[in-house]
Amino acid sequence: MSSTGSVTGSSGFGELLLLGKGSDLSSERGVSCTGELPPSSAPDLVERAEKARKDLGDRAMVLGHHYQRDEVIRFADITGDSFKLAQAAAERREAEFIIFCGVHFMAESADILTSSAQKVILPDLAAGCSMADMAAANQVDEAWKSLEKLGATQGTIPITYMNSSAAIKAFTGANGGAICTSSNAERAMRWAFEQGEKVLFLPDQHLGRNTAVLKLGLKLEECVLWNPWKPQGGLTELEIKAAKVILWRGHCSVHGRFSLANVEEVRAKVPGVQVLVHPECQYDVVKSADVVGSTEMIIKTVANSPAGSIWAVGTELNLVKRLAASNPDKKILFLDKTICYCSTMNRIDLPHLVWAMESLAAGKVVNQIKVADGIARDSKVALERMLALP
Ligand code: 13P
Ligand code: SF4
Repeated sequence: MSSTGSVTGSSGFGELLLLGKGSDLSSERGVSCTGELPPSSAPDLVERAEKARKDLGDRAMVLGHHYQRDEVIRFADITGDSFKLAQAAAERREAEFIIFCGVHFMAESADILTSSAQKVILPDLAAGCSMADMAAANQVDEAWKSLEKLGATQGTIPITYMNSSAAIKAFTGANGGAICTSSNAERAMRWAFEQGEKVLFLPDQHLGRNTAVLKLGLKLEECVLWNPWKPQGGLTELEIKAAKVILWRGHCSVHGRFSLANVEEVRAKVPGVQVLVHPECQYDVVKSADVVGSTEMIIKTVANSPAGSIWAVGTELNLVKRLAASNPDKKILFLDKTICYCSTMNRIDLPHLVWAMESLAAGKVVNQIKVADGIARDSKVALERMLALP
């Protein structure tokens, strides 16, 4: 081992880096910030954030997704679910900077929906989404080609969850499809069945299945699962042709943790509890829940429930903790015993927000998210179809 803490193979290729002893910037996007990233222990972080926010004034709008940390969400001008934040980005034409406290696909969507004069900033470029990464553009192209070979693209409408790369949104727009979020997946899928007779749902199998079966009343057997790692998705021609919905094999690692056993346990142990989950949870969980909805809907449901209500909530922990704090007259439980934050949402912390705002205030544009023109054009078609849904 060298004195720098790295191990090098004889070819020089494949240098190993010990955690904390260096970083490979090409493999870990966004781990480094140009200039000074304040340490998280800096005692004046809040004052610095307040000052930088004030200096930016109306030139900036800070958007905060509901899964963001408390230290960040307090600086958001608008908080919301993916749909509300996309709408906010599309509507506020006067803000020069949209500082997006959320994850990469949300910032990309904001860039697509804002004017060319506006700049979208993601305070930490490593804030991605593992579900979005489960559908790579080349895999989706290959899947579409396989379907084309079988003559199965005719009448197949792609519906793509917001949690996807801009390239996949562009594929969707170019092939007659629309984007959906957790708050309008039912409307988007109904719209798709008005345009054609089959839906290709990307990339969240759970949201797709829950919507098709529990909202539209399709049978479980009418939904098939496309495995991008297998030839022809691991499906036979007959299965593909008979299917009403082809679900992409992607999922959220945070919501995938909640199980039917969690629901049964809380119901057995806590009399009067109501189970409230996000539709990214598995089918069994969603089927057995009392209420299912987007993050915005989860917040409203709890806020509007009578004092004394008891809720077991199956979604990201930052949000559940805030629900408990802002509803002291109700009992809020986390549905799983094991705590789970969304690690990528959590990448946006106060030091990164301070760094981004101070840099912008000093005239230096950092961490801008810019979608290439061709991709932006086709993605916009798919996003605008969503925004126009009744
Ligand atoms: P919402 O659109 O409900 O906020 O969900 C976004 C998300 O990433 C959930 O995991
Ligand atoms: Fe992605 Fe899941 Fe995190 Fe949402 S909670 S951003 S779907 S990894």
